[in-house]
Amino acid sequence: MRMVDLIEYKKNNGEFNHQQIQFIIDGYVEGSIPDYQMSALLMAICFQGLTLKETALLTKVMEESGDIIDLSKIEGVKVDKHSTGGVGDKTSLVLGPIVAACGGKMAKMSGRGLGHTGGTLDKLESIPGYQINISEEDFINQVNEIGLAIIGQSASLVPADKKLYALRDVTGTVSCIPLIASSIMSKKLASGADTILLDVKYGNGAFMQTIEEAKELAQTMISIGKHCHKNTRATISSMSQPLGNAIGNSLEVIEAIETLKGNGPEDLRELCLNEGSEMLVQANLYPNKKEAYQALQEVMDNGKALEKFKEMVKAQGGDVSYIENTELFEKPSAIIELTSKKTGYIQALEAKKLGIVSMKLGGGRMTKEEDIDHAVGLVLNKKIGDHVDIGEKLLTVYARDDLSPELLDEIYQSYTIVDEFVEKPILIEEFMK
Ligand code: URA
Repeated sequence: MRMVDLIEYKKNNGEFNHQQIQFIIDGYVEGSIPDYQMSALLMAICFQGLTLKETALLTKVMEESGDIIDLSKIEGVKVDKHSTGGVGDKTSLVLGPIVAACGGKMAKMSGRGLGHTGGTLDKLESIPGYQINISEEDFINQVNEIGLAIIGQSASLVPADKKLYALRDVTGTVSCIPLIASSIMSKKLASGADTILLDVKYGNGAFMQTIEEAKELAQTMISIGKHCHKNTRATISSMSQPLGNAIGNSLEVIEAIETLKGNGPEDLRELCLNEGSEMLVQANLYPNKKEAYQALQEVMDNGKALEKFKEMVKAQGGDVSYIENTELFEKPSAIIELTSKKTGYIQALEAKKLGIVSMKLGGGRMTKEEDIDHAVGLVLNKKIGDHVDIGEKLLTVYARDDLSPELLDEIYQSYTIVDEFVEKPILIEEFMK
């Protein structure tokens, strides 16, 4: 078999079989297929696509390129969730504890943020002492004892995706549904949970710009899950504005803590309660979503959800006093309130632009190697559909220095304020299975 023939074959819309996909992935991981040939093939896939069968085969071969986590020593149903990412998305910090407090076993491997999107690991690391690297044995023991652990993805999990994703990132081949689906599902399948709930986001802060694209991606991933006999469901939710009010690492942890206490912003709370109830039903822990929803509300109200979060933080070496008293989180020197220059209704609040602002403040990274500043970010006072008066507070910026005129411009350009009444947008479009 020759790689050049396979590139030609895909260019002419041929359908790969298992042997051909195995040859491509093995060759690329071990280095006999160079980046330039792989880039050409990825671009051919972007134009010609992959059939569902090819996508499922690719996912399986990628999954098997490294270690597959064995969670069988954890008693009970192991639940997992994955968000396709966005701005202000701190759902894992809330979902993990509320679902674990209702009997789910969440053994979660999370990622870091890149570009305008945040990452759960960076957020958790803003809690002093929190360890994201623990041994597999400790990970399993912790989930058996308290029902919850959130750690970093092990280096040996799906090495094919690590190499492919880095190449896609620099060759304009990220936004391709079969490639995104196989990338996400290979990691989810290798992580070993019994059930997977995918939160597929659409809107200007997400990979998928439209609901239709998000549904197509969700359907592709659900089909891969079915093909691999894994119970997989999906939520389609909006990322046209940031989720919740806080953007930035420790600011998001503080907001997650408030949500665990039942006081969080409405959109974040609703998404967590809805996704959490879907996960509990999916795991057969509750007969229907209504009862699961009530149980989740209860653990927020009676303090059990926050207690679960504290148990996880303590087990992973974090300083629990920060969870008990969020005033302890470091505040940067420049805390700047920005007010509206216009009276009207917020029509647009562009998640991507605000995510980039947070990154430029130091809260995110352009390349995988950069360090980040956990204390900086933004807290929004107004969201889409809210009325604002001229001079009224729009948001607070947490920065190390005064804001440059360019950054101020970027912040104000994220808002569109109009005279006419604006409806609050729909957050959860649909659940799919
Ligand atoms: N997230 C992933 O893990 N992979 C992609 O390809 C896109 C988003």
